[in-house]
Amino acid sequence: MSDDEKVKEKGSGLSRRTFLKASGISLSVPLVMQPRFVKVAGAQVKVFGPGKVPVSLLINGKKYQATVEPRVTLLEALRHELDLTGAKRVCDRGTCGACTVIIDGKPVYSCTVLAIEGEGKAITTVEGLMQGDKLHPLQQAFIDNDAQQCGFCTQGFVVACKAFLDTNPNPTADQINKGLGGNLCRCGTYVGVRAAVAQAAKGRRGGRRNG
Ligand code: FES
Ligand code: FES
Repeated sequence: MSDDEKVKEKGSGLSRRTFLKASGISLSVPLVMQPRFVKVAGAQVKVFGPGKVPVSLLINGKKYQATVEPRVTLLEALRHELDLTGAKRVCDRGTCGACTVIIDGKPVYSCTVLAIEGEGKAITTVEGLMQGDKLHPLQQAFIDNDAQQCGFCTQGFVVACKAFLDTNPNPTADQINKGLGGNLCRCGTYVGVRAAVAQAAKGRRGGRRNG
């Protein structure tokens, strides 16, 4: 019995020769590809991949270029391609908030967004919050209110709090509770986080440093 027949008999349905041919095809895909267009129901649709594609991202007011496979999340691109490691990978499935960034004014779990989806949008990460050599008022408020322990969730909270205060500058305690419902802290620093948000909101109302 030939090798091909033996493999088929084991039930894979794919002979060794066929497998090697298929592998050869995938290996011949160029490493960096420009997006292509295909027609779907009369409309031109942009298709990326399967190889790496160039991506241009506007992060904290600065342009970044990278080449990534289309499957790469924004979180992975930030951490592994752009050396912006503030956003943390914890659950990697959109439940904990440790990877929160702001995209066009809205808090977003960066583990749930593809890097290529970030093109043409304004992205803010925790690295963009400091004002010169001064901490952002929220960062200071987290310190003042002892709102972190291990700190792994902290950057996600700070970014989520900024997005929250930008749209709710004068929140009630109840609104703060609900507004931060998308972030989890395994160390249980919620009391401190809520106090930090209240302090930062008060600072804004008092006309002190604004962020
Ligand atoms: S790592 Fe993205 S939500 Fe948890
Ligand atoms: S401070 Fe440890 S998980 Fe929040």
